[in-house]
Amino acid sequence: MSRPWGTNHAIRNTQYDIRNTIYKKMLEQFEKIGKDALAGLKKITDLVSLEDFRIKYLARKGQITRMLSRIGEFPSEQKPRAGQLANKIKKDVTEAFEQLKRTLLQSHKQTTELVDVTLPGIPVNIGKTHVITQTINELLDIFGRMGFAVAYGPVVEDEWHNFAALNMGPEHPARDPFDAFYIDDNMLLRSHTSPVQIRVMERKKPPIRVVAPGRVYRPDTVDATHMYMFYQLEALVVDEGISMVDMKTAIEQFIHTFFGPGTKWRFRPSFFPFTEPSGEVDLLLADKSGKESWVEMGGCGMVDPNVFDAVGIDSEKYTGWAFGFGVERLAMRKYGITDIRLFFENDLRFLSQF
Ligand code: PHE
Repeated sequence: MSRPWGTNHAIRNTQYDIRNTIYKKMLEQFEKIGKDALAGLKKITDLVSLEDFRIKYLARKGQITRMLSRIGEFPSEQKPRAGQLANKIKKDVTEAFEQLKRTLLQSHKQTTELVDVTLPGIPVNIGKTHVITQTINELLDIFGRMGFAVAYGPVVEDEWHNFAALNMGPEHPARDPFDAFYIDDNMLLRSHTSPVQIRVMERKKPPIRVVAPGRVYRPDTVDATHMYMFYQLEALVVDEGISMVDMKTAIEQFIHTFFGPGTKWRFRPSFFPFTEPSGEVDLLLADKSGKESWVEMGGCGMVDPNVFDAVGIDSEKYTGWAFGFGVERLAMRKYGITDIRLFFENDLRFLSQF
């Protein structure tokens, strides 16, 4: 059976058309994949959905990857066109994907790094100023307002400043209460703050108006009111025409500022080698139960002329007064503390109360 040439030709033409239609469909499919992918990306708002998208389109078995592998199915004259289209789709989708990924990663980072202000805080333990330091600061503040400057002296002193210049020669019997911790024949831990008087007067000529806080040491037996180390506040005023009235006025002003107006106090005659006359200051204060008693705060007196002579101040021209108060005693009375040892045990339950 022979077929007319035209028929064969027609069949070939028909086959050609069918193939062309298939290739056209495939290209349309490509374009649809690309469009769907870009539209799908637009709806994605989180990283999990983005990963699903990657698996669906861009992974090894994803639609776009498979699309590219199908380019080989096109006849050679159509391959360039198909290849160009497929590669463009892949490029567009990949770029849009990467862009979205960057945006989502960025906002993910921001949300996870946000501070939750409702979380309970981490307690910060801030240190406090020790109650003794607080007391000293308050004392310096009060005397500062009364026109006193602040002076400091060394804790390790020599014989001259701690004793001799204060009218206490080696054989002076009054040395006993000031018994001291010696370091060698000449040096000791100062047994009171009065040596600062000497150091001030050696450096400066009157008028003098200073207070000197500091540690002092005495080999005392420790109990509720005695320590081998404690603090004193020394005061020294030297000028022409200074009298006991000035001393009394200053002490009363201080007591009424520190303990409150109306606080009762008294002078009690006493003896110190470096003052003449000498007194002791007692305060009438109530304890927690309301019981009142006289409590000794420290010594005071008019500067002995021998002390002026020792530092080269004219004792005919100048007079002065001085006191030395125990800082712990002032703090104990002010805050109702009954045992001096508490100050130095560093128990936070005690210290944090002030
Ligand atoms: N220094 C004396 C003491 O420690 C106190 C005092 C100071 C007395 C100043 C008189 C004048 O006890």
